Amino acid sequence: MEKQIYEIITEYYPRQNIAGIKIIRNRIIIELTGIAENPEITILLKNKLQTAFSQYKSSIVFTQEKQINVGVNAIEKWQINGVKKIIGVASGKGGVGKSTTAVNLALALSNKGKNVALVDADIYGPSIPTMLGYEGTPLISEDGETFIPFKEYGIQSVSIGSLIDRNTPLIWRGAKAGGAIEQLITQTAWDNVDIMVIDMPPGTGDILITLSQRIDFSGIVIVSTPQDIALIDAIKGVNMFKKTGTHILGIVENMSYFICPHCGQQSDIFGSHGAQQTAQNMGETFLGAIPLEIAIRETSDNGTPIVAVAPNSPYTSAYENIAEKIINKIG
Ligand SMILES: Nc1ncnc2c1ncn2[C@@H]1O[C@H](COP(=O)(O)OP(=O)(O)OP(=O)(O)O)[C@@H](O)[C@H]1O
Ligand SMILES: [Mg+2]
Repeated sequence: MEKQIYEIITEYYPRQNIAGIKIIRNRIIIELTGIAENPEITILLKNKLQTAFSQYKSSIVFTQEKQINVGVNAIEKWQINGVKKIIGVASGKGGVGKSTTAVNLALALSNKGKNVALVDADIYGPSIPTMLGYEGTPLISEDGETFIPFKEYGIQSVSIGSLIDRNTPLIWRGAKAGGAIEQLITQTAWDNVDIMVIDMPPGTGDILITLSQRIDFSGIVIVSTPQDIALIDAIKGVNMFKKTGTHILGIVENMSYFICPHCGQQSDIFGSHGAQQTAQNMGETFLGAIPLEIAIRETSDNGTPIVAVAPNSPYTSAYENIAEKIINKIG
């Protein structure tokens, strides 16, 4: 159906202006962006849709595209010394397990013999210090020029939480964030890092756009749960990164399924294979599925991540499989 809607729209408005098509209950919602509405054409389009899908109503929304500067040379990248490759962990929606994935993925990359750094750049909910079990502001080098990263479970780490007060209102945090994140990443004394993992802010906001323009990413890992709502946001996230010319490494499905500890039966609490399907539809790589598991939550809340404390568990293998795929992709 979506393909057919797509075809109908392109009879009336150019393909590149279609920002999204959603079907919610009996309504088709079409977002067109970067183009002025021609009311007569919109009526023709609506009539055509009405004829093709008589049981659906349609809404057509015109939005202004955010100006994203895609020129490769137009915006200077931050210089980050002592770091070979950088990957971002992002999600369109909050609370889907982005930070949990970032931490365990960083540890899994380290298990694969890489020298790893983990940066907490999530200004809205910095949680890496809790998950890795460190606290406070990083030490400053003797010359007063750089931060010394914390070192936990063999990985180097710093958090934006140390520079930005959690009690500061969000709007101010947002305004200061770009500069603070730049300082955090470029002024830390990284020791020979093969792969830096960055826990990105959720969503598709300005800070995220700045980061994707300023950091020379090898690619982005998108975390989503299998639910429709999370997936719609994951798709938005993927598209935002693509617009800034940032490569997508693939999609991880978190909280994918639940194995009952009593009967061993698998339940697909948030539906099944949603992210895998979405990855396929978008032509992106499906990197793997992580189950919904009490031990994953408890260990990350306690500062003892599952990959560090249960190296032989199936959960650790799941993260290591994802790590392996990423290493193969970024070389
Ligand atoms: N696979 C999982 N199984 C069980 N619990 C999980 C799993 N992944 C994440 N959680 C739990 O879900 C909660 C949210 O996870 P997390 O903080 O990693 O999400 P997030 O996307 O970073 O959220 P935020 O947007 O708040 O930064 C945490 O309590 C975490 O321990
Ligand atoms: Mg988080």
